[in-house]
Amino acid sequence: MSLRLWTNSIIAGLLGTNVANAVCSSNILIDNFSTWSMNTNTVGGWTSDDGSMASISVVDGSLAFTPKANSYFYESFSCTQAKDQGYNAVSFSVIGPAGGAASLEIQTKSSCSASAYSSSFFAVSGLTGSKQTVTVPLNSFAGAKTNAITGLVWSSFSKTGVKWVLDDVQFVCSTPGQASTAATKPTAVATVTSTNPTATGANPGPSPSGSCSNLLIDDWESQSRLTFLYYNAMIKPSSDDATMKSVVVSNDNHVTFTPKGADSYFYSQVGCVNAQNVYGGISLPIKAPRGAKITVQLSSPAKCGDDVDKVNAAQTSTELGWTFDGTEKLYSIPFSKFSKLDLTKIRTVFFTGFSGPVTFGPMAFYCGTTPSQYQVPPTTVPAGPTSTVPAPSSTASALVIDDFANNGANALGFWHGGDDEISLTWGNKQLTIKSSDSDYAFYTQLSGSCRNLNSFDGSYLHIVYSGSNKFSIALQQHNSQCNENIAPFPETWDSLEAARYSSGSDIYIPISHFNIDRSRVIGLAFKGFYTTESVVLKKVEIVSSIPASFKIPSKLPSGNFVFACKRPNSFAFAIDDGDPSLAQQVLKIVKEENIKVTFFTVGAPLEDPSTNLTNVYREMQSQGHQIALHSFTHPKMEGLPDYAAIDWEYNNDIATVKKTFNGLHTPYFRPPFGNEGARMRQRLAVALGTETPYIVQWSVDVEDWLYATGPTPEKQLDAFKRDLAKGGNLVVMHYLYPSTVGYLKQFIQLAKATGKQLMRVDQCMEDPNAPPL
Ligand SMILES: *[C@@H]1O[C@H](CO)[C@@H](O)[C@H](O)[C@H]1NC(C)=O
Ligand SMILES: *[C@@H]1O[C@H](CO)[C@@H](O)[C@H](O)[C@H]1NC(C)=O
Repeated sequence: MSLRLWTNSIIAGLLGTNVANAVCSSNILIDNFSTWSMNTNTVGGWTSDDGSMASISVVDGSLAFTPKANSYFYESFSCTQAKDQGYNAVSFSVIGPAGGAASLEIQTKSSCSASAYSSSFFAVSGLTGSKQTVTVPLNSFAGAKTNAITGLVWSSFSKTGVKWVLDDVQFVCSTPGQASTAATKPTAVATVTSTNPTATGANPGPSPSGSCSNLLIDDWESQSRLTFLYYNAMIKPSSDDATMKSVVVSNDNHVTFTPKGADSYFYSQVGCVNAQNVYGGISLPIKAPRGAKITVQLSSPAKCGDDVDKVNAAQTSTELGWTFDGTEKLYSIPFSKFSKLDLTKIRTVFFTGFSGPVTFGPMAFYCGTTPSQYQVPPTTVPAGPTSTVPAPSSTASALVIDDFANNGANALGFWHGGDDEISLTWGNKQLTIKSSDSDYAFYTQLSGSCRNLNSFDGSYLHIVYSGSNKFSIALQQHNSQCNENIAPFPETWDSLEAARYSSGSDIYIPISHFNIDRSRVIGLAFKGFYTTESVVLKKVEIVSSIPASFKIPSKLPSGNFVFACKRPNSFAFAIDDGDPSLAQQVLKIVKEENIKVTFFTVGAPLEDPSTNLTNVYREMQSQGHQIALHSFTHPKMEGLPDYAAIDWEYNNDIATVKKTFNGLHTPYFRPPFGNEGARMRQRLAVALGTETPYIVQWSVDVEDWLYATGPTPEKQLDAFKRDLAKGGNLVVMHYLYPSTVGYLKQFIQLAKATGKQLMRVDQCMEDPNAPPL
């Protein structure tokens, strides 16, 4: 982020205001759109269309947008004494429709210390359809005080629904009155005519029509974004620093804080927002019991980019006039109550002094002086597919798998039981399952090794149950040797959504819907519970027909669920997440070892320039490594409450990766925590627009999550050797810890010693789209 503009302002300030018409030596680049993803311009100010465009994005380094009626776009910046500094014009490059026109507004104040601003407008016309540089002399903005400029707004686009392109917005040094000096060689110079009368900016908001929209700080959309990655909706730091007993995000855009004591706190950073004359304060719905108390502190740094705040101003809820009565109401934090605050640089909202638990709704800056509530855009939960298919018929005789008569074995005499953490209550010929986590499962086996179910291809899995149907049913496939001592075991499974196949007290699933090699089945798993409501299982069997009224849904694509490489004799390192400070070491090692690997990267931190991860992964990509998806905020995907929440993760992640890596659209996804179930697989296929995305698990786990920071980090090496010995060939590891990265070279050399060829995951899957070996 460049501080050039502030530096210039400071120098001009020191010299005083009697340096009018000083000769400037270089143009000020206001925006080249290299930091558009952060809504900041090149001088560190806020820039946005406030969602007013039909579409807007940076394409090939320029801002491309498609306006609608009333669309606008603005650049804001620290008050600039352009005239004193010798800047005489605004210039920008534009591609607009031939014959097209637009309005350029300049926002100026009587002086940089004043608070109100006025707007003056120009009609930019004579567009040609090709790229041209428009230079608008400042003295053609009638009535504008060009020694205190705070913003530029483009609006009144003569043609909507077509693409416009804008770039290189600058203050230029030029001779007053000449509209020809351009920083880049113009291909044409547009005619510039002064039209609109000067309007006085009584309206807050950067837009000409006062159509400012509330600026969201946090909509509490994702538990993992807030309490795993510590970000708010602006992808800026937000945390309670573990001072709270709990911070729980609900699935209706609320968060509940339960403090440990009066010292518990919670903060949200907002970057460096210039709220002056735009936003009157911050508002949020709060629900708290009668008599509750909270203290709010707002802070601003001496200059944007500083890590410390210079001004901290606090107000108690009593001083703010807040009273609570146990119901949710909108409360506001008006900036007028925080007199010392620098409204041009708001950085932190901090809450402390909680008297007890409180629930917040979406928190946002509100436009103007009257508090208004941020409206969360409605999400329509994506519909599940409704089509049904004819039921096949079978002549195979029925097979009772489990009748829950005996908690030591099922009806076939094979093992059944659950993960340690799941709650199983055995009753009279029934089992009640309650799971507090979408990672846990109950299993009932069909075999001690492999069982061929091919003769049941026309049959149905029938489950008699009551209670919740919010879980998945998986049919597991053994490995090719039917040997549980070799990795991977199981080799794969397919998970189907119980809710789609249930009616009343029955679940019927065509055996053919389990997309695995059904000649080597191990057993069934009841897993991916996305509610803590219990399910009671009464019978699990395979039957040859179903009641005539029962509707069978169509089979949905559930992707390639892989634990191992497919290419003979191949081996792949797939590395998740990462600490940027260890990235160079990782790159050095893989370079020295001359291998290519796959990096699964979380989306949200790519949007945060302070992580440097965008640069890190771009470098990795440029060195031939594979970049792939690992969700936007790293939740347990199958644990999310509904399709909308799952889709939000995928869609944000896919968009971020596309934007960050030059249009990259990859079908490779590694589930955070390895968490899997029917819905996360089906929605991934939908989000990626492919029936065969890869959901990449692993068969070699270095167990860094267990040992990396403990007293026995060498156990990571033991874990690697153990899985290597079992034949595992697809690694999971993270470059989060120095100890893990310290072993990376040994891991690679051990893998090479097996004689296998090391490569990226897409290459080891024999993906025709993978680069050649
Ligand atoms: C944009 O401007 C910044 C600051 O001058 C510069 O570092 C960066 O390279 C520019 N980016 C492009 C794409 O021109
Ligand atoms: C950011 O990452 C790039 C690419 O790996 C690297 O060259 C650069 O040194 C990193 N910057 C910082 C500040 O670590």
